[in-house]
Amino acid sequence: MSLRIAVVKGDGIGPEVIPEAQKILEHFLTDADFFEVELGLAKWEKTGSACSPDDIRELKGADAIIFGAVTTPPDPDYRSVLLQIRHELDLYANLRPIRSLRPNPDGSFVDMMIVRENTEGLYSGIEEIGTERSTTLRVVTKAGSRRIAEKACSLVLERDRNHQLVIGYKGNVLKSDLLFRDTCSEVASSFGIQTKAVFIDALCLDVLQHPNNYDVIVTTNMFGDILSDVCGYLTGGLGMLPSANIGDTHAFFEPVHGSAPDIAGKGIANPVAAVRSAAMMLEYFGMKQQACLVEESIADLINSGVCTPDLGGCESTSSFGSRLIAVVCKKEERKI
Ligand code: IPM
Ligand code: MG
Repeated sequence: MSLRIAVVKGDGIGPEVIPEAQKILEHFLTDADFFEVELGLAKWEKTGSACSPDDIRELKGADAIIFGAVTTPPDPDYRSVLLQIRHELDLYANLRPIRSLRPNPDGSFVDMMIVRENTEGLYSGIEEIGTERSTTLRVVTKAGSRRIAEKACSLVLERDRNHQLVIGYKGNVLKSDLLFRDTCSEVASSFGIQTKAVFIDALCLDVLQHPNNYDVIVTTNMFGDILSDVCGYLTGGLGMLPSANIGDTHAFFEPVHGSAPDIAGKGIANPVAAVRSAAMMLEYFGMKQQACLVEESIADLINSGVCTPDLGGCESTSSFGSRLIAVVCKKEERKI
């Protein structure tokens, strides 16, 4: 049976970057069925719901989902579409590779993986909002910490760099993080992996100063959100960072950036993060070689100055996408 891929463009720059990612997917997944699911701000304005139970059902029926971005309206009762999907599809592992495509001044390349717990922590959704006092419950469970630690450990083994697992936490203040740290350490020792627990604030600085000391970092939900944006600094900005939200039965791929309403509609958004998210989908389907080919093609273009304005180039979103497909095809011909 052919693969069913849900395409959610969303709003903001989502409808600009996702078609470029879809082109790559259509190129490699020639038999797949692509179907669009409309979610986001426009739908919320029309229907009062940005993502309905029917939408969730459709997403659950897909073998994988590619997602652009959705703008959060300033309504206190609005429930984030992303958080809703992550919870409903139990996408507990948010994998955020931080890989530079351009060499650093010393010739090295940054290559690390942030493994962000994606269903609990400060994003539990359990809140009491008042006018004098508002609270958000930060949830850390043994089971939730264990499954994310297992994911992180299997990535340490897969990446095979003989590195320890770094645990980003804040246990000096948040006692809930001691459960996270200790569970991660327990899991890692059962995998034969060494760990180092680092306070998240210090970690944010150290990854920037010594990125090559890091391989896999596992952390709780909001810390992972912040750390991945921080690491955008190492790779040319948020236009470059992809992510995969993985559960036991569903998989959802999205650029780390948001809807960027300030540049939406101008045709200048960098599609690389979305395209690399599509490459992560290929890898998820076991097409590692094809995923690498996409990464290499992006690197070739960027290193020859073909890029969007955020990276100092003058390509539009779609012209970059078209040039990318051309490079991918050329590389494929050479490999045949
Ligand atoms: C991200 C985003 C989301 C998050 C928001 C939009 C809910 O910042 O994917 O990093 O915090 O997870
Ligand atoms: Mg974020």
